[in-house]
Amino acid sequence: MAKQAKMIIDKAFKISEVDKRVYGSFIEHLGRAVYDGIYQPGHPLSDENGFRKDVIELVRELDVPLVRYPGGNFVSNFFWEDSVGPVSERPSRLELAWRSLEKNEVGLHEFKKWADAANSEVMMAVNLGTRGIADACNLLEYCNHPGGSKYSDLRIRHGQREPYGFKTWCLGNEMDGPWQIGHKTMDEYGRLAEETAKAMKLIDPSIEFVVCGSSNRQMPTYAQWENHVLTHTYEYVDYLSLHTYYGNRSNNSVDFLAKSDDMDYFIKEIIATCDYVKAKKRAKKNINLSFDEWNVWYHSNAEDDDIMNNKPWQVAPKLLEDIYNFEDALLVGLMLIVLLRHSDRVKVACLAQLVNVIAPIMTDPNGGGSWKQTIFYPFMHASKYGRGVALQPVLSTPVHDSKEHGAVTDVEAVAVYNEEKEEVTIFAVNRNLEEDVVLNTDVRCFEGYTVKEHIVLENDDLKAENCCEQERVKPMSTNQTSMDNGMLTSMLHKASWNVIRLGK
Ligand code: AHR
Repeated sequence: MAKQAKMIIDKAFKISEVDKRVYGSFIEHLGRAVYDGIYQPGHPLSDENGFRKDVIELVRELDVPLVRYPGGNFVSNFFWEDSVGPVSERPSRLELAWRSLEKNEVGLHEFKKWADAANSEVMMAVNLGTRGIADACNLLEYCNHPGGSKYSDLRIRHGQREPYGFKTWCLGNEMDGPWQIGHKTMDEYGRLAEETAKAMKLIDPSIEFVVCGSSNRQMPTYAQWENHVLTHTYEYVDYLSLHTYYGNRSNNSVDFLAKSDDMDYFIKEIIATCDYVKAKKRAKKNINLSFDEWNVWYHSNAEDDDIMNNKPWQVAPKLLEDIYNFEDALLVGLMLIVLLRHSDRVKVACLAQLVNVIAPIMTDPNGGGSWKQTIFYPFMHASKYGRGVALQPVLSTPVHDSKEHGAVTDVEAVAVYNEEKEEVTIFAVNRNLEEDVVLNTDVRCFEGYTVKEHIVLENDDLKAENCCEQERVKPMSTNQTSMDNGMLTSMLHKASWNVIRLGK
């Protein structure tokens, strides 16, 4: 008999309304993300502005409500003034984070135009690496002030009368990392972020801030960093950032798929740290989380080092072009489940990144079309069907052994209830690589609902990849779920991502 798991989902077990911005993503001036990614003038599939229409189509298919821009490490030496005004007068710059040449052909105005076409809001970042309060204020004045002042009038002269009204602003990027241009100690950064946020709020009190947390859970100053930074900035900021990337470096797929548990601990520990500072300050408001970089990233590391060390100052070099396989898609699905299970505190999340650079969408470097990586699918499913209220599943699942993580749960799941559409979607991964598991779900609370679809992403080969010519990993509809008197029986094949949709 197959292994069995049991789950109850009920409208009353509410985690929170899912903030649609958890399906955000990220475009950095890095590699071929912008140039030859979203922008490729002269390409047969580009529009009159040089934007790839096929790429915009795929971004729309993912339905990405927010895009973080322009970095990333890039932002820590970003001179925003170089990216506005007549394109022919914009300078080329040595881009220090990725040791590339930035030609500034795409800048603020162009990116906003692209984001509008992609139906995305821009989450803007300011440079707190090599610059500071004054430049951050000038950029905000340029973007959000209606007019009648130096920088708002400059924007108008550059052809944009209406202010952009960017709402969410990142106060720098990964400032705890020694790799960051202008890396700071926790108190240096805490003070700078506090004073920058204070001044920016004077210009536009309606904006909200993301302050930098640790670059990952392994950083030596982890948790102390958050404590110090929030102690300085608590009054002014709304979100704390978290970043994480996982890789299957030891080629142990069982342990690789257990890494989403690390993301879960990470979120819990950061919530505890935010709430510790809240207690210290006897504050009323909560600091929520912006998980604004998350993904799998390791396949391209050696090539990236070679380009940056030995072939620097190229325009749009081939950097961070991880080609994802099927097990990467499973981990991305598991990470999405973790994010949804924390939707009471994770209000923003950005799959890093969106096009060509550790991305779900790729463009052919030889002038061909665009294509979907394996990780495209779990993200697309979650973004499409995961809008509504996240429900806490009461889940009891068998476990399997792992080398590094001990006993690991076979099934990870979450449900999202969309009251308006009268739909409930269960996202479930069976991360047992050897055995199928039958998931028995009590959905009696959803009277009158029937099974609409069970979509599955599976493959016999964990290392199967997609490419421009062939899509080896793609979802299909199955009949693996049946319903009897409010009890669902779903066959979750070993190593599978499952989307079980119920509706009226
Ligand atoms: O997303 C790639 C890079 O990863 C970002 O620039 C940086 O913030 C992180 O280290």
